[in-house]
Amino acid sequence: MTRTRTHRIGVLPGDGTGPEVVREGLKVLEAVRTGFDVELEEFDLGGERYLRTGEVLPDAELGRIRAKDAVFLGAVGHTDVKPGILERELLLRLRFELDQYVNLRPIVRYPGVETLVPSHTEDDVDMVVVRENSEGLYSGAGGFHRKGTPYEVAVQESINTRHGVERIVRYAFELAMHPDRRRKLTLVHKTNVLTFAGDLYQRVVDELASEFPEVETDYVHVDAACIYFLDWPARFDVIVTDNMFGDILTDLGAMIQGGMGIAAGGNINPEGVSMFEPIGGTAPDHTGKGTINPLAAIGAVQMLLAQLGEAEAAARIDRGVRHATSKMKSMRAGEMGYATIEVGDLVVDGASG
Ligand code: IPM
Ligand code: MN
Repeated sequence: MTRTRTHRIGVLPGDGTGPEVVREGLKVLEAVRTGFDVELEEFDLGGERYLRTGEVLPDAELGRIRAKDAVFLGAVGHTDVKPGILERELLLRLRFELDQYVNLRPIVRYPGVETLVPSHTEDDVDMVVVRENSEGLYSGAGGFHRKGTPYEVAVQESINTRHGVERIVRYAFELAMHPDRRRKLTLVHKTNVLTFAGDLYQRVVDELASEFPEVETDYVHVDAACIYFLDWPARFDVIVTDNMFGDILTDLGAMIQGGMGIAAGGNINPEGVSMFEPIGGTAPDHTGKGTINPLAAIGAVQMLLAQLGEAEAAARIDRGVRHATSKMKSMRAGEMGYATIEVGDLVVDGASG
């Protein structure tokens, strides 16, 4: 008998609704898991731990996370913790330390889901945002001068390296060539104002375009991209953009999918450990009520399995989600959450259909 392959997965439920959606995601993982094993290790990291012990991400735990095949994260952020601590020292530190330079955020509208934009059909919304995830304004470069005085200066620098821009643009080109995609790559930036960073991005896109002659490339300013998300989303297939533009644009993207509770994302290091998460955050208003939408976490599990090479299990989740949403009449426009989906219905029916 051949030995079954085992994936070692670090689980970080985190704060707020993180633990409840992670629980639903793990049920789905178990339901689609045939032909391979998973070894789960849970990490107690997040606001509660910080408030209890003052620790955010001890090196020993980071070391254990590094040794995983993938990470499944719920949400990070706590109302009693000053903004910036958990975000920077836990979420961003994990992304940076593991060099997860791709933030992959598919924007799909599942069948039967209503959104705030009545003119959109299901076919209109099917794109992927490739958000640069390791530099830009998120690098933490900058500082204060004369802090607290009337002459205070606060500088926040956007770091854009040739290496960083090239690897994210290359990833986006390769994704555009994937059989499921439409071979169109749009650079979203603000080249008319950010003439240094934007210029580097545009030059790299133009240079790499010759390596990918089958991919059509174009360019849209980030503000105009917001208009197109509402007015003509079908014009986008793969978008590549910098860290902060990608952050902002994908919240709008989530809303044209049907809500923050649907949008999943992956922090990917193609050669290392990747981390998958629902992108909606901790949703304190929903915490503990059983009303948060678990679809984003389930979508994150789907992406995690795809990254681990478990294409069949990932496809079962996709079929299951589509089957379930097409039957649900309760998903209303813009809704963050609704009662927990029956896992049996979601996976078993969907997989057999
Ligand atoms: C996201 C979040 C994070 C980000 C925050 C919590 C640091 O908004 O994953 O989109 O800005 O990347
Ligand atoms: Mn965000």
